[in-house]
Amino acid sequence: MSAAQDGVGARAARRRFATLGRSVALFRAFLVEQTDPDHFYGLLADDSVRQVSGYTPLAGRTVLDVGGGPGYFASAFRAAGARYVGLDPDVGDFSAAGDSVAGMLRGSGTALPVRTASVDVAFSSNVLEHVSEPTRMLDEMVRVTRPGGLLFVSYTPWLSPWGGHETAPWHWLGGDRARRRYERRTGRPPKNRYRETLFPISISHTLRWTRGNDAVEVLDAVPRYHPWWGRWVIRVPGLREVVAWNFLLVLRRTSAPPPGGAEKTELTGGRVAM
Ligand SMILES: C[S@@+](CC[C@H](N)C(=O)[O-])C[C@H]1O[C@@H](n2cnc3c(N)ncnc32)[C@H](O)[C@@H]1O
Repeated sequence: MSAAQDGVGARAARRRFATLGRSVALFRAFLVEQTDPDHFYGLLADDSVRQVSGYTPLAGRTVLDVGGGPGYFASAFRAAGARYVGLDPDVGDFSAAGDSVAGMLRGSGTALPVRTASVDVAFSSNVLEHVSEPTRMLDEMVRVTRPGGLLFVSYTPWLSPWGGHETAPWHWLGGDRARRRYERRTGRPPKNRYRETLFPISISHTLRWTRGNDAVEVLDAVPRYHPWWGRWVIRVPGLREVVAWNFLLVLRRTSAPPPGGAEKTELTGGRVAM
């Protein structure tokens, strides 16, 4: 399905989904993320599955969740009938939602242990900012997605109010300074450490990556949690980095080979056939 074939009906349904009420519910849940993670991550996972379903049917489809984390997304995708495979370098994260580690892979998004063109949907939520080579991870997600398949990638841009994660909003004055301030205040380093486990990434950076990349076609580039009428912000360079909060890129894998050749990552070896 090309962007042109992605019809008026589907776009209208996506608009009906992205209401102000949904944005408010997500923000309220985000405010209690630390004290009630089950509520926040459960809601986010259900929301994400509904959002992905606006672009592709999920029943019977293979979904690879890169940086899947604590298992909430596994339950939500499986409830929608998808064949879900989570991948994360931190296997301990898999079981936080009470899920088993069955059907999960340990690995990095920058060298996916997955066969080329073997998944229908390559999904990643809030991971790209934790990876030192984000475009390498995107290239890998393209490689493993079959032609016609979907890529759904979201992340928090560095200049977002939440860009510094638990050190926000002090990251606006510099990542190192924000980290030192956090350590002074709490007596411990933040979980998301600047340039160790949290990297500054912009919206412009990934949009540039899509340009001239014939292996993908952009279906949507939107602020993930905003109501549909707030989507225009993505068209404004500079402003979008601050007010989008979280950026969502939805791509269709074309049949063109990725720049540099699909087989360049065959070196990773030990692939799982999906
Ligand atoms: C903020 S959590 C996001 C979890 C889940 N996707 C969500 O949206 O709630 C970031 C996740 O990225 C994972 N991660 C970090 N580096 C990664 C890498 N190189 N490849 C894949 N996942 C990675 C972490 O282990 C963690 O589970």
